[in-house]
Amino acid sequence: MAECVLIDGKARAEALRSSVAEQVARLKAEHGVQPGLAVVLVGDDAASQVYVRSKGEQSLAIGMHSVTHRLAADTTQDALIALVENLNQDPAIHGVLVQLPLPPHLDAGAVLARLNPDKDVDGLTVASAGRLASGLEALTPCTPLGCLILLREALGGLSGLNALVLGRSVLVGRPVAALLLAENCTVTIAHSRSRNLPALCGSADILVAAVGRPEMVRSSWIKPGAAVIDVGINRVPFRDPEQAALGRTRLVGDVAFKEARGVAGWLTPVPGGVGPMTVACLLQNTLTAARRQAGLDRDGQ
Ligand code: GUN
Repeated sequence: MAECVLIDGKARAEALRSSVAEQVARLKAEHGVQPGLAVVLVGDDAASQVYVRSKGEQSLAIGMHSVTHRLAADTTQDALIALVENLNQDPAIHGVLVQLPLPPHLDAGAVLARLNPDKDVDGLTVASAGRLASGLEALTPCTPLGCLILLREALGGLSGLNALVLGRSVLVGRPVAALLLAENCTVTIAHSRSRNLPALCGSADILVAAVGRPEMVRSSWIKPGAAVIDVGINRVPFRDPEQAALGRTRLVGDVAFKEARGVAGWLTPVPGGVGPMTVACLLQNTLTAARRQAGLDRDGQ
């Protein structure tokens, strides 16, 4: 069997960032529009702080206007909604992202309901999800868009392939399934209550794992030659007990990488696979939103 191709998400993200940077420069020069992104972080979740810093830095690095609002963990729902509504009205801001998860006293759904869908560069409002599910033009959630770009590049056309999406989250599983359906895949969504996961996965030409369970997908679940996209980012203790006792951790995906490599045709590593695509796609979405708000196109994606 042909050797497994490791999909280099870092390189693909770099290429996408360069392309978006060029388009940002052109948009400024030709139309005087500088895409603007506002990221809102509430509280001090450690992983969220890393992601938010990266979003701010990368948007600035490609020439966007970028603002990060860091709010205290005890921010009220009303104060957060007031900020979102201010950003809705701000003509320098074309995209707004409220980093999730929010502290438990805040209702993410109620906050997102107040966000102007035209500025929903995360694709998380009900309006965006409904448009995507209806096959209409929509701002698409960033991680799913990253998965699709990697799959298109690896496989070329996806039409007619069997796709199995493991996980049904609003952030990843559901939108990935909608995107693959729009590519004419035959899509199955499996989840924690699905029966006989190994057999379901075993008939998939495309397997997208987005369950947040470390190394759950074993090589015996994978159809030989399948394209496997691992969305999981799980922090687990080091295998070496001495290192683990020191509290050292490592990142693993939802797929048992070493074994999967012996069976899959294409595979994304963790880290360095889907992860880097997420912020690159956020930049792409912010550019798309800015172009649409400037009346320049309705079909930027
Ligand atoms: N938290 C983890 N991933 C994401 C994402 O893509 N968007 C938002 N808003 N929060 C997240």
